[in-house]
Amino acid sequence: MVKVAVVGLGFMGKMHLGIYLNKLKNVEVVAVCDGNKEALNIKNLESRGNIKTSGKAIDLSKVKKYSDYDAMLKDGGFDFVDICLPTFLHRDASIKALEAGYHIFCEKPLALTLKEGEAIANKVRETGKLFSIGQCLRYWPAYSEVKKLIDTGKYGRVRYAEFARFSMTPSWAWKGWVLDEKRSGNAALDLHIHDVDMVLYLFGKPESVKSAGVFVKNNSISHITTMYKYPDKVVSSTGGWICSKSFGFNMRAFYILEKATIELDFSKEPVVAVYPDESDKYALPFPEGDGYYYELKDFTANVANGKLSGIVTVDTALESLNVCLAEIKSAKLKKEIIF
Ligand SMILES: NC(=O)c1ccc[n+]([C@@H]2O[C@H](COP(=O)([O-])OP(=O)(O)OC[C@H]3O[C@@H](n4cnc5c(N)ncnc54)[C@H](O)[C@@H]3O)[C@@H](O)[C@H]2O)c1
Repeated sequence: MVKVAVVGLGFMGKMHLGIYLNKLKNVEVVAVCDGNKEALNIKNLESRGNIKTSGKAIDLSKVKKYSDYDAMLKDGGFDFVDICLPTFLHRDASIKALEAGYHIFCEKPLALTLKEGEAIANKVRETGKLFSIGQCLRYWPAYSEVKKLIDTGKYGRVRYAEFARFSMTPSWAWKGWVLDEKRSGNAALDLHIHDVDMVLYLFGKPESVKSAGVFVKNNSISHITTMYKYPDKVVSSTGGWICSKSFGFNMRAFYILEKATIELDFSKEPVVAVYPDESDKYALPFPEGDGYYYELKDFTANVANGKLSGIVTVDTALESLNVCLAEIKSAKLKKEIIF
C-alpha cells in the first residue's frame, strides 16, 4: 500500500481523489491540502471541467486536512505528493516536496517557462525521487491503442497525422487563473500541450514548428494551430478554448499510414475506426476508462516498486513544454522556429 497526499482540491484534485478512493486498491489517501478552507470540507467529487467528475459522495473524515502546504510536508506520513495546483505554483510546490524527500505526481504542464521546468528537472535529478507529470494522453486508451497499432508496423509508416482538441472557454477555475496567461500559459500551454506531447510521443522532436494563433486581449493565445516539420511525414495539430458553450469539448486525431487510414474521434461511434487498404473498416477496441486512471495506476505501482515506468518523465514533460513554448513564440512572431 502506498500513501498519498493530494494538494489542490479543484477539478483535477477531485478527479485524482476519486481514482485513489474508488478505483485503485494499492493506495491510501492520508492527507489533503487546499488553501481555500471551504474546499477542504469536501463531501463529494462533484466538479466542473471539460470532463465531468463523478459527483460521488466521499468520506475524508479519517484524512488529515491542511490549508498550509508547508505544514503538510513537515508532518509527512505519506510516500508521494500529488500536485493538482494551478500551473504557476508547480515549480515551488514540486521543489519543496522533492527537498522534503517525497516522490511526486504533478499535473501538466510541468511549468510555465523552460527556466522553471529546468529547475524542477534539476531537483528531480539531485534528489533521485520518482517524478511524473499528468501528460495523460500517453495513457488514454484510444490514443495508446492507436500508438500500439502504428508501432506494430502492420500498416506501414505514418505519412500524415493531425490532432485536434476543441473546447468551450474554461470559466470554472479558482480565481480565474486558467484564463490568465501569466498563471496558466493560456490555451496553448494548458490545453494544446496534450497534443504536443502526443506528437512527440509518436514521432519524436520535429525539426521546426510554425504556428498561428487566435489571439485574445493582452496578445494571449486562445487557440493555436501548428505544423511540425519532419523529413518523412506531414504533422499538424490544432487546439484551444474558443468554442461555444453548447459545443462543450471534443478531441480527435487522424492518421494516414501507407496501408491504412485511422480516425479517432470522441464524438463518433466507434471512437477509433481503422480503414485498411486491403479489407473493410473495423472498430479498434480499447480498454475502458480514461488516461487519468491509467497514469495514476502506473505511478502508484512505480512508487511501490521504487522505479519509474518511463512513459512520462520529467525529461519528456520538459521537451513537451519546450516545443509548446516554441509554438507560442512562433505564433506571436509569425515565423518558423527551428530547433
Ligand atoms: N490533465 C488534464 O487533462 C487536466 C485538466 C484540467 C486541469 N489540469 C491541470 O491541473 C492543475 C489544476 O487545475 P484545476 O483545473 O484542478 O484547477 P482549479 O482551479 O479547479 O483548482 C485549483 C485548486 O488549488 C487550490 N489552491 C490554490 N492555491 C493554493 C495554495 N497555495 N495551496 C493550496 N491550495 C491552493 C484552490 O483553492 C483550488 O481548489 C493545473 O496545472 C491544470 O493545468 C489538467
